Amino acid sequence: MSYHDTVQDVYRQAAQAPADNLCCIPAAPRYLPELDIPKVMHDMNYGCGTTVHLQDMAPNQRVLYVGVGGGLEALQLAYFTRRPGGVVAVDPVAEMREAARTNLELAAKTNPWFDPSFVEIVEGDALSLPLDDASVNLAAQNCLFNIFKTGGDLEKALAEMHRVLKPGGRLVMSDPITPRPMPAHLIDNEILRAQCLSGCLTYEAYIDAIVGAGFGSGEVRSRQPYRVLDAASYDLDEDLLLETIEVAAYKVPIPDDGACIFTGRTAIYTGPDGSFDDGKGHVLPKNSPMPVCDKTAGALASLNHPHLTVTPSTWHYTGGGCC
Ligand SMILES: C[S@@+](CC[C@H](N)C(=O)[O-])C[C@H]1O[C@@H](n2cnc3c(N)ncnc32)[C@H](O)[C@@H]1O
Repeated sequence: MSYHDTVQDVYRQAAQAPADNLCCIPAAPRYLPELDIPKVMHDMNYGCGTTVHLQDMAPNQRVLYVGVGGGLEALQLAYFTRRPGGVVAVDPVAEMREAARTNLELAAKTNPWFDPSFVEIVEGDALSLPLDDASVNLAAQNCLFNIFKTGGDLEKALAEMHRVLKPGGRLVMSDPITPRPMPAHLIDNEILRAQCLSGCLTYEAYIDAIVGAGFGSGEVRSRQPYRVLDAASYDLDEDLLLETIEVAAYKVPIPDDGACIFTGRTAIYTGPDGSFDDGKGHVLPKNSPMPVCDKTAGALASLNHPHLTVTPSTWHYTGGGCC
């Protein structure tokens, strides 16, 4: 049995009865006016963090959601698209697609603005998406890609997202990451991987995988504690804290000097002139924190300029700035 079969078994069961050991950090449901989320969708929230961000919404977008789960985020995305087929949700597990369908029909009863046709649920696999090249504006996955192994499936899944996105389109993801590389005995535990506990990468490896797929710009929107794998239960030398990370990656060319990754760093000029120009396209107005990508932050910090302050990552980037 391949690990894909194990994953699909886990989610076949999770579709039939909500599983409380899967993913999900307790979070208050996100309130949106006139959006009522059926309780069963909360119970079947098998994600961590969110992939639904106001800043990604624009008129007439076609949105792809890979790994539909109970349909919670598909419903939240449909809240913004509001037209038949505006959201395409792909999942290989028939029972999960059926559960999502049932849950969306339930949602239609308490959400007058919503019609189940707004979410087209499609059989398919993240590793070979049933969509044309450059056919979606926004693609999202929550807590699925951490299940995929590196050195093959993860790269394939990211390449598929890149392929189906239109130029300039964005991939929004939420996954667990780990501060120390996951030990081999946990990586190889297929059940723990399927439960989003033992497949995660370090932050650096996660970002490298995204850039490796051709995304030229990215932003970290949130990074917070997720779970602890305690040493005794998981046969570790010491407890391992997992974090959850929310990122957006843009299908834009990778600059010659490397991708721009924003992690909440800023640069502030406080010198005698009205602004500071680094000669590379970054003009910092006086006394005003300018969001900069990590590459630019590093380059500015290395100048050791007496009137430049470069602030550390907040892991909460909300837009704007250089590049
Ligand atoms: C951890 S759950 C996340 C569900 C949902 N994204 C959420 O946040 O609640 C993983 C989902 O991916 C689906 N899945 C499993 N293997 C997949 C694959 N190879 N391609 C696409 N989806 C897959 C599962 O059936 C399940 O719906």
